[in-house]
Amino acid sequence: MSDKATPALNCLLPITVDNLSLALNDRVLIDRITCQIKGNGITVIMGPNGAGKSLFLRCLHGLVEPDSGQVHFAGKPPSPAIRQRQSMVFQAPTILRRTVLANLLFVARQRGVSNSQTSIDCLAQLRLDHLAQHPARLLSGGEKQRLALARALIIKPAVLFLDEPTSNLDPTSVETIERNLQLVSQQGTKIILVTHDLGQAKRLAGDVLFLHHGKLSEHSPATSFFKNPESKAAKDYLAGKLVL
Ligand SMILES: Nc1ncnc2c1ncn2[C@@H]1O[C@H](COP(=O)(O)OP(=O)(O)OP(=O)(O)O)[C@@H](O)[C@H]1O
Ligand SMILES: [Mg+2]
Repeated sequence: MSDKATPALNCLLPITVDNLSLALNDRVLIDRITCQIKGNGITVIMGPNGAGKSLFLRCLHGLVEPDSGQVHFAGKPPSPAIRQRQSMVFQAPTILRRTVLANLLFVARQRGVSNSQTSIDCLAQLRLDHLAQHPARLLSGGEKQRLALARALIIKPAVLFLDEPTSNLDPTSVETIERNLQLVSQQGTKIILVTHDLGQAKRLAGDVLFLHHGKLSEHSPATSFFKNPESKAAKDYLAGKLVL
């Protein structure tokens, strides 16, 4: 991955969320969320099914327009140039009908990183180099998700959003993905990760946002969140109780 693509990392921090709200079909799905995401380290978003985690992530990345409220990156409202410095990995990646390497080269060219050696290095980093000429549609679930991460990382994003990127993957794929997330985080990419995997959250999180019914129940450093969560919803969730 070339340093030329993104010379200054972390230039989008802090991410400031101010009173973000979204309602669809008369249901409030994101309810006045205010927070500041700053500093290095991985920010993990947790919460029960339907809490609004995916919608919130999409609002942060500009894929969903909120009804009210704002998101600022380093004090600036989102612009095409700011979006260009961000990547997102979805739970179910869309894979193009071409080889693994061609998938990566396509995204690389689209996003202005056309160095093919960079793409090959990126594939190697995700343990996909031996599959470079393989039709990408035939990859296993874990391999597809590693390809999705390679595509996201090819631009060396300043901010990387991930929505449950390792659900249903085997431990080796999970390990490869987590290792790469830790690596790029150390290199300056801000990572915002939605996960239900408690072990993963404990391994990776620097801070945790806990969402419940579209509201931000708490935003705590990971150490205190896992030891002594503030909100009842988070306490119950961590205790494995049903959180309604
Ligand atoms: N396009 C939409 N139109 C209407 N309702 C929606 C839409 N997208 C999501 N919702 C609703 O918003 C709520 C929050 O959805 P979201 O996908 O953000 O939950 P989540 O926290 O990511 O849950 P999960 O852990 O299951 O992925 C859910 O009740 C969902 O049904
Ligand atoms: Mg979701």
